[in-house]
Amino acid sequence: MSAERPVRSDRGRSGMFRTKTVEQSIQDTEEPEHSLRRDLSALDLTVFGVGVVIGTGIFVLTGKVAKENAGPAVALAFVLAGIVCGLAALCYAEFASTVPVAGSAYTFSYATLGELPAWIIGWDLILELALGCAVVAVGWSGYIQSLLANAGWHLPGPLTGAHGGTFGFDLLAAVLVLVLTAILVAGMKLSSRVTAIVVGVKVTVVLIVIIVGSFFISGSNYQPFVPPSKGTEGGNGLAAPLVQLMFGFTPSNFGVMGIFSAAAVVFFAFIGFDIVATAAEETRNPQRDLPRGILGSLAICTVLYVAVSIVVTGMQKYDKLSTKAPLADAFKDAGHPFWAGLISFGAAVGLTSVCMILLLGQSRVFFAMSRDGLLPRFFSTVHPRFGTPYRSTILLGVVVAVVAGFTSIDVLAELVNIGTLFAFVVVALGVVVLRRTRPDLPRAFRTPFVPYVPVLSVLASLWLMLNLPAETWVRFAVWMVIGVVVYFVYGRRMSRVSQAQRSGPPTV
Ligand code: ALA
Repeated sequence: MSAERPVRSDRGRSGMFRTKTVEQSIQDTEEPEHSLRRDLSALDLTVFGVGVVIGTGIFVLTGKVAKENAGPAVALAFVLAGIVCGLAALCYAEFASTVPVAGSAYTFSYATLGELPAWIIGWDLILELALGCAVVAVGWSGYIQSLLANAGWHLPGPLTGAHGGTFGFDLLAAVLVLVLTAILVAGMKLSSRVTAIVVGVKVTVVLIVIIVGSFFISGSNYQPFVPPSKGTEGGNGLAAPLVQLMFGFTPSNFGVMGIFSAAAVVFFAFIGFDIVATAAEETRNPQRDLPRGILGSLAICTVLYVAVSIVVTGMQKYDKLSTKAPLADAFKDAGHPFWAGLISFGAAVGLTSVCMILLLGQSRVFFAMSRDGLLPRFFSTVHPRFGTPYRSTILLGVVVAVVAGFTSIDVLAELVNIGTLFAFVVVALGVVVLRRTRPDLPRAFRTPFVPYVPVLSVLASLWLMLNLPAETWVRFAVWMVIGVVVYFVYGRRMSRVSQAQRSGPPTV
């Protein structure tokens, strides 16, 4: 261990609302044993963004949501979710370009809102990224199994995952996570190269769906574009969106409310652009490149999603869409198995990069929390040769592999969404707070119309959260309560900022 520099904190604030100064956050990244290599450009970041954003959301959830919640109006749900993300992206971009260190919303909150809120957001991000990665790994395994089945190969039943309450372990999902963990440990540059190839394949496949699929559209499939509202069977109680329960609606699908619940689910398809911000510390020119990477990848994905959903719901009647592989199956239904096979292959390749970047993001958040002493410092030593935070990467990789092996997708995806939306709320509030507390900081990117855009972002994120099932709120609350307990038992005492405050005034 090298001699550690003293930590600077905001002397005016103590206890759980003490903050770590922005300068301190940046300075920490310069400690040799705890600093990451600066290797990434704006293009790398955009590739990262697109690489993680296009995934299970568009390849799997589009069909499910069109069939169960919104019909062809799923395209509108994508637009709504895209707007919510766009507002959040404007806030993320300002924060990320002001506080360019690993850890994303966690780091931003530590600099603005205080230690406890920062801990909460870090804990929340670990949930988002770890479960998101597990969800995508399981989706990937499904596509691979279907490709293997085409060739007549089948895994033994218990190794294909849990089905309808039966016990099972999804071997392929777990193996994928472990292999990707090894790649990440070996180095950031290697992983971004692999990602670039995978992203190319994925975008090509999406374009094939849009261009080739447009020849098979039948106008009658768009009638009705917004199917009339219909009560859900067994959908009352905790499975109904919270907003419907709060305002006493009979839980229903389709209609206008259906578009909102669809937006709350397909929101998953956009998760990832925020992760670009977690790579800030590894970016060559974060002040300029980060906002470009975040906003660029979001814009590209929104256009592709709307186009794909319009094409697919035009190819096949929404109530006939498949819920497992809707894009490929729409081509099968149109009598084109070749395109279907190609799309399945591309989806499987594409999901690999999503999984990898989610894994990368979560290990960086964990790394940042550990470097601050909120989690054991043992996890934030970087590898002497590879320059990567190998201990946190390996620990989380193994945990995610186990979770991916034993869990099914649906419920987890909703939990991931609520966690991410919660992070958006905190980041938007953070932009406003930081403008007031540190107006002097240089900001390469400034969110327009502050405080209106951040306030709109908060309201839009909360609205989507309310459209998630009540039971998702309960699960989320349980996870957060556990986090608060861990903070009071460990982080509060062990944080470097707290230790610096105890050992007297800073000497930087
Ligand atoms: N946005 C990513 C996906 O759709 C998480 O898979």
